[in-house]
Amino acid sequence: MNFSGKVTIVTGGAIGIGGGISRKFSEKGSKIVIADIDLEASLENSAKIRNLGGECEVIKTDVSKSSDIKKMVDFTLEKYGRIDNLIQNAFSTGNNTSFGGSALEVEEQSWDQGIAMLQKAIYLGAKYAGEELIKNKGNIINISSVHGLLMSKGALIYEAGKSAVIGMTKQMACDFSPLGVRVNAICPGHIVTEKMEVRWNEIPSGLKFFEEQYPVRRTGIPEDIANGVAFLCSEEASFITGHSLVIDGGLSIQLQEDFGVDQAKYAKNNEIDFPY
Ligand SMILES: NC(=O)c1ccc[n+]([C@@H]2O[C@H](COP(=O)([O-])OP(=O)(O)OC[C@H]3O[C@@H](n4cnc5c(N)ncnc54)[C@H](O)[C@@H]3O)[C@@H](O)[C@H]2O)c1
Repeated sequence: MNFSGKVTIVTGGAIGIGGGISRKFSEKGSKIVIADIDLEASLENSAKIRNLGGECEVIKTDVSKSSDIKKMVDFTLEKYGRIDNLIQNAFSTGNNTSFGGSALEVEEQSWDQGIAMLQKAIYLGAKYAGEELIKNKGNIINISSVHGLLMSKGALIYEAGKSAVIGMTKQMACDFSPLGVRVNAICPGHIVTEKMEVRWNEIPSGLKFFEEQYPVRRTGIPEDIANGVAFLCSEEASFITGHSLVIDGGLSIQLQEDFGVDQAKYAKNNEIDFPY
């Protein structure tokens, strides 16, 4: 797998899964644009990439704003003159707005803000980078989640957004693949990012309980997802489009009755600080 001469935009590429994707694509030879709302963290990741000999530019971007997504595309063309891979990964729960809750609880404003990041940004990224990706026969990768496949209670916005990403990926693949652009998604299971690590350090038995729920008996790391994204953007995946690749250590393949009983047995025999 060699991405020399390619240019990759990673939204939310400063830390977490996006941070790992930025580093992986640089390792494989691609020039990187980190488009992230957190400028300081973006500069830190960019410094890591440059220290290892990679090329990386940073643009402060809020993917919930159409004008920022347009600027991200213009900036990339100005800096590098082309775009080959658009990795649409950015999301955070926000500081002032609660994205949790059922349809009875969710405020309309929260819905609009959440869906702007989770769903509308995916459309706008494709809209603004589309022509350039077509020119270069590039790739779009949209980061969904196991939450796009299986629903959690009290999480209407996230589950709706992540489900929509899977549908949009298939739809966009129908439009873009004949034009040479493959569109795929990834559905990660639980990935221990820098932020999650802080939380788990406070309740290690909670993480152990999570790990027990995965057939591979571990949760994921950003590199697990970055490897999948790199594969989907590679020549080796040239016959794959519209696909949502589940990278979850087997979490979502289990029969729920068995799963429930196993969890109950584990909880009975172990001291656990439940994560929620
Ligand atoms: N970590 C997991 O367990 C997990 C599992 C499934 C799916 N996901 C998905 O993977 C993606 C990355 O998650 P993560 O856990 O790495 O998150 P994270 O919080 O560790 O990192 C998110 C990055 O996105 C940036 N960001 C947040 N809002 C933004 C915005 N509006 N515009 C631009 N940048 C923004 C943040 O600054 C940060 O750099 C998200 O789409 C998330 O839903 C994560």
